[in-house]
Amino acid sequence: MSFTPRIEYQINAPVDLDQMIALYRASTLGERRPVGDRERMRRMRDASNLCVTAWDSDRLVGIARSMTDFAYAAYLSDLAVDLAYQRTGIGKALIDQTRGALEPDCMIILLAAPKAADYYPKVGFERHESAWILRPAAD
Ligand SMILES: CC(C)(COP(=O)(O)OP(=O)(O)OC[C@H]1O[C@@H](n2cnc3c(N)ncnc32)[C@H](O)[C@@H]1OP(=O)(O)O)[C@@H](O)C(=O)NCCC(=O)NCCS
Repeated sequence: MSFTPRIEYQINAPVDLDQMIALYRASTLGERRPVGDRERMRRMRDASNLCVTAWDSDRLVGIARSMTDFAYAAYLSDLAVDLAYQRTGIGKALIDQTRGALEPDCMIILLAAPKAADYYPKVGFERHESAWILRPAAD
């Protein structure tokens, strides 16, 4: 980009489903999320109870979508920034805003996408050697 746009951050603002799906695609996270299944994406959107969004005017350019009890743990399921806006600090700001919405002793847990494996140490996360996944039976 030739100029730095003014980005605004919102917590739990309404997000249009088409805009959300377009962002997942534009960030490349869509390669790893069920963007072709609108109903599943709708349920993902509607069930998250902490969703921080980044806006360039009315364009959705970033999202951090979490499920949390606010007191002990937050699962940061999806972090995505539009490719055209990546590496301008939006991802870090989305994480900071997520953290700010939680109680101070609440931790954030996530699974890194392969492309973002080197990102999380840069923004303060530490690798956990005993994370476990119970895969869906359909796998
Ligand atoms: C990962 C992602 C959210 C990062 O968002 P971003 O807004 O581009 O990142 P930031 O601008 O906040 O970057 C903060 C720092 O990390 C670095 N960084 C950004 N992306 C990186 C990556 N993929 N790998 C390593 N470092 C990265 C930046 O250069 C910056 O470093 P600096 O502070 O030394 O300048 C974004 O690249 C993205 O949406 N990727 C595709 C979807 C994805 O993989 N999401 C994660 C799913 S778990």
